[in-house]
Amino acid sequence: MYELKPQYFTGIEAIDEQHSRIFKLADDAYKLLKDENKLFKDDDLKEIVKGLQDYAKYHFTEEEAYLEKMGYEGISKQVEQHKWFLGEVNRLAEKLSEISLGNQDSLIEKTLERLTTWFQEHIETLDMQMK
Ligand SMILES: [Fe+2]
Ligand SMILES: [Fe+2]
Repeated sequence: MYELKPQYFTGIEAIDEQHSRIFKLADDAYKLLKDENKLFKDDDLKEIVKGLQDYAKYHFTEEEAYLEKMGYEGISKQVEQHKWFLGEVNRLAEKLSEISLGNQDSLIEKTLERLTTWFQEHIETLDMQMK
C-alpha cells in the first residue's frame, strides 16, 4: 500500500533509501490497522511510532547535512518543516499512553493521516526540489 512511488524519487540514492524506510513504517501501520487477527495493537503501534521518531530524526539530520553541503538555498524551510513533523510525531507518541482497545484503530488512522500528509506535502513537493 505505502511504498516509494516514482513521484517520490529524488535520484539521490541515500535520500531515497531513507525515504523508503519511512514509507515502510507507514506500510507497517496500514497492515496493523487491517489486521483482523490481532486484538491488542498497542505494542506494535508504539514500536512503529518509536521507529518514526528515531528514523525521521536520523533522516532529517542526514538530509539537512546534504543540503548544506550542496549549498541549497531553501534549507531553512526544510529545517522548519522537519521540526514541525518531529513535533507532530512526538505528540502522537504522547497520546499512545492513553491507548485502549476502543481507540487503537483511530490512533493508527491518525498516524497514517500524518504520514500521508507528510509524503504529499513535504516529500513530494519540497524534497523533490533536491533533484
Ligand atoms: Fe525534507
Ligand atoms: Fe526527506
